[in-house]
This record gives sequence, structure tokens and C-alpha cells, in this order.
Amino acid sequence: MEMRSQWGTRAGFILAAMGSAIGLGNIWRFPAVAYENGGGAFFIPYLFALLTAGIPILILEFTMGQKYRGSAPLTFRKMNKNTEFIGWWMVLVAFVISTYYSVIIAWAMSYSVFSFNLSWGADTEGFLFGDYLNLAEAEGQVGSFVPGVLIPLILVWIIVLGVLFKGVKKGIEVANRIFIPLLAVIFLIIVIRAVTLPGAMEGLNAFFAPDFSQIMSADVWVAAYGQIFFSLSIAFAIMITYSSYLGKKSDITNNAFIVGFGNSSFELLAGIGVFAVLGFMAVQAAVPIDEVVAGGVGLAFVVFPAIINEFPGLNSLFGFLFFASLVLAGLSSLISITETYVAGLVDKFNISRAKAVMFGGGAAALISLLYATQGGLFFLDAADYFINQFGVALLGLVEVILIAWILRQVKNLRTHADEISDIRLGPWWTVTIAGITPVVLGYMMIDLFRQNLMRQFDTPTGNYEGYSDTFILWGGWGVAIAALVIGIVMTLFKWRNDPQSKSESKSEEAQ
Ligand code: ALA
Repeated sequence: MEMRSQWGTRAGFILAAMGSAIGLGNIWRFPAVAYENGGGAFFIPYLFALLTAGIPILILEFTMGQKYRGSAPLTFRKMNKNTEFIGWWMVLVAFVISTYYSVIIAWAMSYSVFSFNLSWGADTEGFLFGDYLNLAEAEGQVGSFVPGVLIPLILVWIIVLGVLFKGVKKGIEVANRIFIPLLAVIFLIIVIRAVTLPGAMEGLNAFFAPDFSQIMSADVWVAAYGQIFFSLSIAFAIMITYSSYLGKKSDITNNAFIVGFGNSSFELLAGIGVFAVLGFMAVQAAVPIDEVVAGGVGLAFVVFPAIINEFPGLNSLFGFLFFASLVLAGLSSLISITETYVAGLVDKFNISRAKAVMFGGGAAALISLLYATQGGLFFLDAADYFINQFGVALLGLVEVILIAWILRQVKNLRTHADEISDIRLGPWWTVTIAGITPVVLGYMMIDLFRQNLMRQFDTPTGNYEGYSDTFILWGGWGVAIAALVIGIVMTLFKWRNDPQSKSESKSEEAQ
């Protein structure tokens, strides 16, 4: 077996982990989620989720990856032979995410080109759904390929797979060394310009004004946890994989704090930038701010182009910078998402990285074509919702219960992290991993299942987004369940280079 790849420097690892964390989730998802869930009041659940689940799980995953030096399936297998399937389940969730994440980057690529002559015109909504996506009439219809999405999508995969072909140090590390500083500069320019626009303060007030009536709602808490997991790239194999390339004596805890707080600072900055611009729009159009706010797709691809139209001077440049920042942030995250299954295949089947990139990346690229069809947006929306709730968030819960209560590994891992880290972990870490997160997340997951099952079987309540039962069954539940089932199937294949015996003796040596 080849020697395991390793990061060139500590900074290289931190940049790559930040590059993974900072993504579409920060710029495209966070501002809308925060606003929909009570604006300023969202910060309390958000901070709670960051401190009691986000950072503790990030430390946990860094420790697991660094200690066991394996992709997620290999790491779980080394901990206990019967838990390999959890590693594959995580990898399959990452696989699903990569298939549609790539498509959103493709849209952003198109839009950065459209910025040059503001090709979206005055009716930005009509342009997105009609001219650009050529959207099917109803969910479940596939229709034909949309060339405007297909071409940038191919480009996205060429870049991502090209970087992964080059390996950890020469590919992933180098790409992040370029993308992340560039992203930081572009984003600072955008935010500074945004907060100096007339009306910016109105937007910031809307963003920060707390709506305390919402804070007791379970939905707000679910949204906060969901946002933290997605945004920190935890519970879907990424951080375990990335930290498996750390050296034997690398710091863990301090790195996790840097990445965790770095990501949240960027998220906050994105929120400030986006809402300042929305405030400007609201003042221009003389409407209340909630009339210009829209979630997800709508925010970036409908509201933003409309604002860019009205922008005082250099609007093409501002538009280009905004969409380019989405592309850069998205690419560095997609690289990490795809690396999870590349690493899993290399470890399990003992094949070369090039082959793993070709098979794994090739399969993801092929499936992503579904989202480049006229019906793509509907599939994307359902898969995104279900895989986040019943993939990522559920896996976060399964992971902490498994480590803390079934394998009882918290003490072991804590000792390991303390031995090599600048900062020592206090008892708070044990309390958050073994107590707070399982209880809060457990309660939320039960509530989430209850809500969605009720929706599924009680037609008057209506499904997610009002989609039909069949569509939700296949495009939503089906996708989330397939990740688990295929994950289990993957464990049935033989390890080509049985790591178990070796790893166990190695980890015993290390203790
Ligand atoms: N962490 C990545 C994001 O926020 C996946 O988009």
C-alpha cells in the first residue's frame, strides 16, 4: 500500500479545512436561514449549536482522523469492525451532496459571466426560471438538458477532479492556498462596499433585530444545528478525511478552534454584506425589507441580480465579484466533499488515487447531470432538504451516541488530543459530546421525523414545499435512505489490504 499522503504545512491544513467549511453554506444559505428563523434571535441557538456541537464535533473528527489515519470508513472500521458502515454512510451523504453542490457552482459560474452585461434584464425571476433554467412545469419531470447549466457543470468537474488527481499536497493544498486568500480579499471588498451603500443600516437592523417570539420554536433550533453541521463540514466524512493527512504530532484542538471561529466569522460577515445590500434594495424600492428577502436560490440568483441592476456605479464589477466569490468558496468545498469518497475508495480497494478520482468523481459527475435538466431544480431542492436533515444532522447524532455511549471512546480520544495539542480539552468537551449534543439533537431529530412523517401521511398538512407524495418518497426519503443502504452494501466488499489487523496493532503500540 502507498504511504498515506500528508499536508505540507500546518497552515496548509488549516487553509484546506477553512476552504471546506467556507462554502455556499456561508454565502448562499446562512443569511436566508438566519433571517427566516428570527434574525437576531437566531444567534442564540446558532451560538449554542456552534459551542456545544459544532466545535466539539470538529475536535472529535480531527482527533479521529489524525489518530486512525484513515478515510471515514477506515477510521470507523479501525475503531470497531462493526461500525464501518457509518463511515460509508457519511461518505454516501457527501456523495449525494457533491452531485447537486456542483450544479449550484455551475449556476454561479454562468451568473458571473452574465454580470458583464447584466444579461438577466429587469425581470430577474423570469430570467432565472425561464430563460436560464428553462424549468419544467412540475416536480418529477426531467425534460431535456439545459446547455447553460451543462457547460459550466462540466467545467466545475474538470477543475475539481483535476485538483484531486494532483493529490493532497500538490492539488488540494495548493488550490486552497490560492482560492482562500483570494476569496477573503474579494469578500472584504464586497462587504465594505455593501455597508457603505445608502440603506445599509436598514438591512443590518433587520438582520440583527431579535425576534424572541421565535426562539422557543423547535424549528429554529433544528435550523441552527443544520446550519452549523453543513457549514462546518462535520458529520459527512470531510473533516475525518482531511485530518487523516495530518502528521503524527500535529495540533488538533487549537486548529479546530481556528477553523470553527474562522468559519463563523466569515458567515457573519456574509450575513452583514448580504443584508446591507438588501437594505439598500428595500430603500430604493421603498418597500419593507422582508419583501425583498428570499431564501436559498431566490436570494443569490433573483434578488442579487435585481440589486446589481440598481447598483450605483461599477455594477458589473460588483456582480462579477459576488458570483466569483460563490464560485471560489464553492469549489474549495466541493474539492473536500469529493475527496471523502476518493479517499474511501483508495483505502478500501487499494487502488491508485487516479483511479479513485476517475470512478468516484466520474460517478458523481454523471449523476449531477440530472440536475442540469429542466426538472433539475426540483430534484435538487428535495435532495438538499432530505439529505441535510436525515443524512447530515442524523449522522451527527449517530456519531456522538456511538463514540460516547456505545464505543465509550471519549476519554481515549480526549487523552490523544491533549497529548499533541497546544490547548488541553477541559471536562466541557466530554459534557458536550456525551451529554448536551445527544440530548438536544436527539430531541430535535424525533421532532423532525414526526413532522415529516406526519406531512407524508397526512395529506392536508402538505409535503415539504407542497411536492407530491411520490416525488417526496423518491426524490427525498429515497435519496436519504439510499445513502444508508448503499453505505451498508459497501461494507460487504472485501478490504484489499486488510487494515484491521495492522491498525489495531498500530493503535495499541501508540497507546
Ligand atoms: N461547508 C460547506 C459549505 O458551507 C459544505 O458550503
